Amino acid sequence: MSNNLTVQSVSTSREARGSQKKQKPVVFWFTGLSGSGKSSLADALERRLVVNGFHTYLLDGDNVRLGLCKDLGFSAADREENIRRVSEVANLLLDAGLIVLTSFISPFQRDRDLARSVIGDQNLIEVYMATPLIECERRDPKGLYKKARQGLIKDFTGIDSPYEAPTDPDIIIDTITHSIEEGVDQVMAYLEAWRSK
Ligand code: ADX
Repeated sequence: MSNNLTVQSVSTSREARGSQKKQKPVVFWFTGLSGSGKSSLADALERRLVVNGFHTYLLDGDNVRLGLCKDLGFSAADREENIRRVSEVANLLLDAGLIVLTSFISPFQRDRDLARSVIGDQNLIEVYMATPLIECERRDPKGLYKKARQGLIKDFTGIDSPYEAPTDPDIIIDTITHSIEEGVDQVMAYLEAWRSK
């Protein structure tokens, strides 16, 4: 890293970009096991936000790993780098004045803490998809749990790589007893209260 860098100040602020869009920029950080419903809920939430006139961007795990993070695997070090890059990108999109949604397993508390410090505590709403492993494995939408059980995928979260559940998430989503649309309602209600804070 170069020592010869200084912060270049820019005259248009995050607040100015946000108020041009008539919104307060924020990051919804979805975390949960593979198959817990993060991407489905984030996608449905983005649809609802757009219909309501918000300007958004969704960073989704599989998509980001097919592009920006295609050099990364699933070791703890690679997941850390994945989350670090996503945090920095989310922070730039926040600066652009957007409502940002991120959908990553982000299994390690330390990496989520890093995301919070990059993005800023006051700008990040953590959404924990509390779907239990047994249910994620039953759903197995991509057939990956089956492959992991057969030993065909190594370091699979919940099987041979840990998932550290958040201890104090802002929102907990129960996908066993609630539909996706009810989950969206829950997050939208939280956003309304947060906006008027
Ligand atoms: S994270 O741990 O670094 O946050 P991320 O959300 O980007 O993970 O990617 C998870 C997606 O990659 C899963 O939804 C799944 O489709 C795929 N995947 C492939 N291999 C693994 C693995 N070993 N563990 C977890 N997910 C995997």
